[in-house]
Amino acid sequence: MTNTNFKACFVGLGYIGLPTATIAAREGIQVLGVDINSKVVDTINRGEIHIIEPGLGDLVKQVVEKGQLKAATQPEVSDVYLVVVPTPFKGDHEPDISFVESATRAVLPLLKKDDLYIIESTSPVGTTEKMAELIFEERPELKGQLHIAYCPERVLPGNVIHELVHNDRVIGGIDDISTQKAMEFYRTFVKGELHATNARTAEMCKLTENSSRDVQIAFANELSLICDKADINVWELIQLANKHPRVNILQPGAGVGGHCIAVDPWFIVSDFPAESNLIGQARKINNYKAFWVSEKIHNTMLEFQLKHGREPRVALMGIAFKPDIDDLRESPAKYITQKVMQGTNNNSIMVVEPNVKEHNVFKLTDYKEAYETADIVAFLVAHKEFKALEYREDAKILDFCGVFRK
Ligand SMILES: NC(=O)c1ccc[n+]([C@@H]2O[C@H](COP(=O)([O-])OP(=O)(O)OC[C@H]3O[C@@H](n4cnc5c(N)ncnc54)[C@H](O)[C@@H]3O)[C@@H](O)[C@H]2O)c1
Repeated sequence: MTNTNFKACFVGLGYIGLPTATIAAREGIQVLGVDINSKVVDTINRGEIHIIEPGLGDLVKQVVEKGQLKAATQPEVSDVYLVVVPTPFKGDHEPDISFVESATRAVLPLLKKDDLYIIESTSPVGTTEKMAELIFEERPELKGQLHIAYCPERVLPGNVIHELVHNDRVIGGIDDISTQKAMEFYRTFVKGELHATNARTAEMCKLTENSSRDVQIAFANELSLICDKADINVWELIQLANKHPRVNILQPGAGVGGHCIAVDPWFIVSDFPAESNLIGQARKINNYKAFWVSEKIHNTMLEFQLKHGREPRVALMGIAFKPDIDDLRESPAKYITQKVMQGTNNNSIMVVEPNVKEHNVFKLTDYKEAYETADIVAFLVAHKEFKALEYREDAKILDFCGVFRK
């Protein structure tokens, strides 16, 4: 696969699938993007996009107009199939690989000799082998004739177009030839280094990366709780501690959210409960931080009411899961907003999210209006718009994410 004269079918056109399909199409690969959501398919076929990602809109328009990228609700015969569907958790934090399984079942009848099947969805260890079993159970004649691999995605939303091309990739096949074929495929559009391994290690690598971040953020969040009690400014403390040449503490926040860091560690905890004490505890600390923030806001509201004899106007600044994006999945800020609104007069609470036009549950208020008119301002996400605001001495500012840290 040294040239791009082949057809690739991307199943799942979300935050990861669509940009990857688009980059592959830009390199000259004939790409079919498949999604079960017909609205997504129609939007893409019009040359438009349904997610916010800088630079993606123009690229999609170009490749759709050129005929390199087409979207559909059903897969078609191709040479390479990529599974990029969600892998959430269900019940008591157990990984739900049912989307991966149904995407695999959808392409199963189309597979032929020498095809390459790759899972990109973040998956529990052993998923690629499981899907290989499923494929060969249904299509035993393809045993030894298909190439099957796992390649996790580690891009940063907001910088996806650059990182998709320039980040290193870890690629693990179910056998050496699968690894080799998958490396050749990624080489057609990735400029970063490609690292070969086996499927299980590649799966665990993705889970490890996110668990590592989660544990480190949990340390910062735990420090923020201690500092609150000890009357120490946690931002100053971390800045000073980081002057040590071998210390690098991350920043605390309102919790940890998103589809990756708040989810993936559970995939390890669920499969290896006895061995994953630290990883599991970090998840609990980061979840607790969001609860603690909501309690802190509640208590500040009660104090205000006692002092002034009226309900405070409260601005909850941000509901996205991290700065400068519109993604609300597993967002601690959204959870905090829901908690704060429970049992209070909703008219006195202004919910702000400059990256989202409207929300089906929360009535959104312009961020400047909310900031300027609130008695209590709780910063839940450090969006760039918020960082540009002037500090208000006449309001109670609860800065949970270091918007005003020096
Ligand atoms: N978003 C990120 O920053 C990120 C980063 C690294 C890894 N990942 C992983 O990548 C995978 C995809 O994440 P995402 O953020 O792109 O998800 P997403 O929810 O944005 O998109 C997934 C898309 O798949 C579609 N879909 C679901 N089931 C389908 C099926 N059976 N057939 C066809 N389409 C189907 C959905 O309609 C949706 O459009 C997940 O496993 C996630 O953990 C995400």
